[in-house]
Amino acid sequence: MNADQPPLPTILVLASGSGTNLQALIEASRERDFPGQIAAVGCNRPNAFALERAAKAHIETFVVDHTKYDSREAFDGALMQEIRRHNPDLVVLAGFMRILTTDFVRAFRGQLLNIHPSLLPKYTGLNTHQRALDAGDTLHGVSVHFVTEELDGGPVIAQAEVAVAPDDTAESLAEKVQEKEHILYPIVVRWFCEGRIQLGSDYVTFDGELLKKPMRLPDN
Ligand code: GRF
Repeated sequence: MNADQPPLPTILVLASGSGTNLQALIEASRERDFPGQIAAVGCNRPNAFALERAAKAHIETFVVDHTKYDSREAFDGALMQEIRRHNPDLVVLAGFMRILTTDFVRAFRGQLLNIHPSLLPKYTGLNTHQRALDAGDTLHGVSVHFVTEELDGGPVIAQAEVAVAPDDTAESLAEKVQEKEHILYPIVVRWFCEGRIQLGSDYVTFDGELLKKPMRLPDN
């Protein structure tokens, strides 16, 4: 980087488990022209594999173990403190399996992204793949959205679809959806770091224009 250039926006990733989305972001951030840098990775589980992935990539990590706090507020307060220490421009939830308090969500409003394995507004919450199968859906997919107070309800920025095959199971669908996740999340994070997407009151702007419907990842 040229010394006259402003520093890249910083990204803090929160994860709870395996961290395949984190891995996709780490790889994207290694591209020469990636407009942001991952400053830290935080987990609520001390044994999350995401921590190993981060360490291997020489990214600072921290753990705020939710089992050590007796209320959601206390946990979120401690988490907020850790995040503020890094003062990131963007907080990326990548399989972070905790419901966040209103205070937390408000504190990072417009700087907080989540990836959810369904075509929102369909199937907020858990077991999305099985629910899509049970409903007989022929299309399923993944959404990246700004986080607001409503669980999985913030304005959607982009989606990628997968076709549901007659012999799909929840597991096979999850695999197909994850493949798309690993493409979609880095794209949206890139847009954020480039200053292209912003959260309005209950909408998203893309390049300064109201985004009337979520951006779609082109099929293969
Ligand atoms: C992904 O399926 C994501 O959609 C959901 O949690 C899962 C995280 O997977 N929010 P990983 O830890 O990134 O592998």
